[in-house]
Amino acid sequence: MSLTGKSSLDGEEIVRVSNLSVGYSGHPILERVSFAVKRGQIVTILGTSGCGKSTLLRCLTGLLEPMDGKVFIFDVDVWDMNFPKEIRTRMGVLFQAGGLLGSFSVFDNVAFPLRESTNWPESWIRDMVYLKLEMVGLADFAHYMPSELSGGMKKRAGLARALVLDPPLVFCDEPLAGLDPLTAREIDSLLMELNEMLNITLVVVTHELVSIERISDHCIMLDRSVKGVIASGTVGELKEHSHPAVRDFFRH
Ligand SMILES: Nc1ncnc2c1ncn2[C@@H]1O[C@H](COP(=O)(O)OP(=O)(O)OP(=O)(O)O)[C@@H](O)[C@H]1O
Ligand SMILES: [Mg+2]
Repeated sequence: MSLTGKSSLDGEEIVRVSNLSVGYSGHPILERVSFAVKRGQIVTILGTSGCGKSTLLRCLTGLLEPMDGKVFIFDVDVWDMNFPKEIRTRMGVLFQAGGLLGSFSVFDNVAFPLRESTNWPESWIRDMVYLKLEMVGLADFAHYMPSELSGGMKKRAGLARALVLDPPLVFCDEPLAGLDPLTAREIDSLLMELNEMLNITLVVVTHELVSIERISDHCIMLDRSVKGVIASGTVGELKEHSHPAVRDFFRH
């Protein structure tokens, strides 16, 4: 039996996107997109710049309403109910630049979701925040302000905040953007640890090839020309894909 639980829970779809069209001011960027994410997987959403990766993530995380189609998370039609609060607390989001509030310390940034959605006493909040900061290696930096953190530390702090409510599902938009290769590898390792040890399902938007190869259980590749999914599969499958745009993407 797998200690990680990855194989034992295989099969349950915790994100389901069905015929989704999404865009801006009535102009679709993606049309009739369908895919699913199974519990315990790390799924990367990839594709060249401008193909709609962030747009898709915005729709999945409640920031951009679809033009058509459905998004189900934990089997709830999330836009039908205007992104219910229960869903919000069961998913974490790591924004591209960490998304930290500049006037709050690292501690208060990580505590923010707990203060918003629980009535916990301050001592519980403190313990939980330090647990998460410990997990991302920032326990000694709780009192720092975001402006005093390096790019990698900002990502770690953003990740601690995304994890503070113990969500089983975490979305990350370009978690490695702007990081040097060594720091990028550390963040990748952290994501893989969270996936393997805590069985957190991860949906990661990225165009970093090395990272895609390192972390993906499954890849979903978007393409501008088709306004949607051009290929879906493991890295190995995409490298051998019949479409030249897919093979080209993976050519080093
Ligand atoms: N707020 C917005 N209003 C109008 N158009 C937008 C908006 N945000 C993005 N777009 C357009 O949607 C398209 C897809 O953008 P998106 O940011 O989703 O791409 P991406 O795949 O995330 O690219 P990158 O890899 O560069 O981050 C682009 O043509 C972009 O100009
Ligand atoms: Mg983007």
